Amino acid sequence: MSERSEPATSVGTSHVETEVGSVFVSNYPPYSFWGEDRAQGALDALQQPPRPDTPLGLYLHIPFCRRRCKFCYFKVYTDKNSSEIERYVEAVAAEAERAAKLPAVAGRPVKFVYFGGGTPSYLSTKHLRMLVERVRGAIPWDGIEEVAFEAEPGTLTEPKLATIREVGVTRLSLGVEHFDDEILRENGRAHVSKEIDRVIPWVRAAGFEQWNLDLIAGMVGDTDATWARAVERTIEASPDSVTIYQMELPFNTVYSKQKLEGGGPHIADWKTKRRWHDEAFRRLEQAGYELSSAYTMVKKGGNGRFVYRNSVWQGCDLLPLGVSSFGHMNGVHYQNISRWDEYLRRIEAGEAAVDRAYETSESERLTRELILQLKLGRISAAPFQEKFGVSILETFAGAFDKLKADGMLEIDGDEIRLTRTGLLRVDQLLPAFYAEAHQNARYT
Ligand SMILES: C[S@@+](CC[C@H](N)C(=O)[O-])C[C@H]1O[C@@H](n2cnc3c(N)ncnc32)[C@H](O)[C@@H]1O
Ligand code: SF4
Repeated sequence: MSERSEPATSVGTSHVETEVGSVFVSNYPPYSFWGEDRAQGALDALQQPPRPDTPLGLYLHIPFCRRRCKFCYFKVYTDKNSSEIERYVEAVAAEAERAAKLPAVAGRPVKFVYFGGGTPSYLSTKHLRMLVERVRGAIPWDGIEEVAFEAEPGTLTEPKLATIREVGVTRLSLGVEHFDDEILRENGRAHVSKEIDRVIPWVRAAGFEQWNLDLIAGMVGDTDATWARAVERTIEASPDSVTIYQMELPFNTVYSKQKLEGGGPHIADWKTKRRWHDEAFRRLEQAGYELSSAYTMVKKGGNGRFVYRNSVWQGCDLLPLGVSSFGHMNGVHYQNISRWDEYLRRIEAGEAAVDRAYETSESERLTRELILQLKLGRISAAPFQEKFGVSILETFAGAFDKLKADGMLEIDGDEIRLTRTGLLRVDQLLPAFYAEAHQNARYT
């Protein structure tokens, strides 16, 4: 996911109220630069053999949810019935079958698969089995390192969890977000705390290699006390990893629309969200967790690896399947069509579903990998020198110097480390590395 410049949250304004337009940086160049007129670039890239030493992952977008959360910025549908979902599953499978024959995909080993949402766990066991069977039939994934799967607590039952496990999922990520019923309700979540309490023992018993719990710092109605309690409940649940996002307000959320119309509830300011995020990290550290990235803490000595995240941040190929799904193949970013009817029509007609694309240059790929890996909180210059033949310390000296002077990072020989202050606002720092043409542009 997820794991997505920006007008409203520059360092200079970061103490103020969360404004509409903030974003989670998940890619570079920003999506607003991708164009429909460049779609042919993606189709051409798929006709090329893969670049050497580039792993391949699959991203399967499952865009269904029980209800639309008021803060959510993903492409989701809450109105699809079982036969429409079945038609969609068949389309995604057909898309995989079509892609499997392309030179960029044919015969390649698959390093990881990511089921993202929406809510993959919204699928029935029948549809999930159908989907996996057909996609695996087309693009075998024996020897895979990770199959990651997002789940919303209220959609899970014990038999469904058994199926999720049986189809090969190794990493289950549970979208808990908060444990307080009033806050869950206010923010439009479909689940309540009773459902969270019910599923956690089932998730543990299902025996995934790893399970993760997502929280959001700064949901509407949150306070110091409710947040502290959410962190304690998380520690009691004892997941292998905990991911904490600070509440963002991209343009397309319900709350953003309310705010743009002059209304909407109060959303905690950035300073408060960062403090909550920091307090949670400190408490998790005391409880035996350690930092894995700006968002994620993992149990010390446990299985904290996250193949999808690390591979994407290191520039792997990612084959996007499904409506609105986006990925990156042979140096070209692209996104599938976002309209339900048109996606189905194209796939059912045996056509590609590519909508918009962007052919990256070598220097854009370098910037992309640099900014995404900075989210790990610690990077070395040597791997960039080896891969791109470039000294990042020299090429990005201006940005590094400025961030160092602002107390956001430290440089020690070859190593660049974000300070805790920098780590907690990493998304707001990254535009400093963007090329001039991409600065101050709309992100999506
Ligand atoms: C696709 S959802 C996860 C699966 C499932 N749909 C769910 O919500 O339980 C991915 C994650 O994005 C995060 N998220 C969504 N909207 C957000 C926002 N506006 N700000 C911060 N995080 C957000 C939530 O933590 C959520 O768990
Ligand atoms: S359940 Fe997840 S994907 Fe669906 S609307 Fe809520 S946050 Fe978004």
